[in-house]
Amino acid sequence: MAQILIVGGSGTVGSEIVKTLKAEGHSVRVATSKPTTEAGKMHVNLLTGDGLDAAFEGVERAFFLSPGGYADQYAILAPLIAKAKEAKLKKVVLMTALGVEGAEGSPMRRAELDLIASGIPYNIIRPSWFSQNFVNFWGYGIKTANTIALPVGDGKAAFIDSRDISAVAAKLLTDDSRNGQEYTLTGPQALTHTEVAKIIADATGKPVTFKDISPDELRPVLVGAGIPADYVELLLVLLSYIKAGYTGAVTNSVEEILGRKPRDFRSYAKEAADSWK
Ligand SMILES: NC(=O)c1ccc[n+]([C@@H]2O[C@H](COP(=O)([O-])OP(=O)(O)OC[C@H]3O[C@@H](n4cnc5c(N)ncnc54)[C@H](OP(=O)(O)O)[C@@H]3O)[C@@H](O)[C@H]2O)c1
Repeated sequence: MAQILIVGGSGTVGSEIVKTLKAEGHSVRVATSKPTTEAGKMHVNLLTGDGLDAAFEGVERAFFLSPGGYADQYAILAPLIAKAKEAKLKKVVLMTALGVEGAEGSPMRRAELDLIASGIPYNIIRPSWFSQNFVNFWGYGIKTANTIALPVGDGKAAFIDSRDISAVAAKLLTDDSRNGQEYTLTGPQALTHTEVAKIIADATGKPVTFKDISPDELRPVLVGAGIPADYVELLLVLLSYIKAGYTGAVTNSVEEILGRKPRDFRSYAKEAADSWK
């Protein structure tokens, strides 16, 4: 059976795409940076291209992302798109990020343009900030200090549950009726971080609050957490877009594609409550 290759298939978005496609009976191949002999997984080093040729053998469709931590996403994505073209894939779904279409010359935008020019049938999805960040990235501060401390002021973001991104990606990978479309994916509601803190406080019963800090205060925290310095600088720029008010728009793309509303942050917080305790 023709394979669907999922780059980042062990990560936040990719792992749920894999689950959905497998449940639908599709044959899925996960690209992993780790050495593996597990069926359905293949070692690929996206930084060196090691394993890439083998990973595309027998593949008809693919999902691409640039894993978190790498600031030059073009260096990761361009070889994948070139390989997809060489292998004459029937479909590529590329995940970039909210607002990339307006960032001409940025690494993610360059990758989008490569895909559009490639002649491969495609969809591009540009998600907003993930609800899951409040567990995966900011969870430690909530758990240990009841605080979300970020340089975002009272800017809003339409946080999206990453499982909705995965559901959209899985659908687009196997449905060619929307080929050539690009979608900005958001949750149902734009929230400030003060509102997010209140929702988490309600869900956990803990006195969680938001603290507006400066980028200079956050930088050493992120570097100390082991995030590469160039990616820290990128994150600080992206967070400044929240503060500037660029991330508050809500789209109906998730509902248009899935025929149901996206999950809201309150539902996510109820489910995730134990991870903040
Ligand atoms: N978080 C947000 O709010 C947000 C918002 C918008 C867009 N985005 C975008 O979402 C993307 C990240 O998505 P995600 O959080 O689902 O991914 P992720 O969890 O950061 O990473 C996905 C997987 O990629 C694999 N990987 C890492 N380095 C690799 C390498 N050198 N070679 C091969 N595989 C490698 C890892 O799996 P293995 O351990 O198996 O190798 C990792 O679990 C980024 O491009 C980010 O810009 C994020």
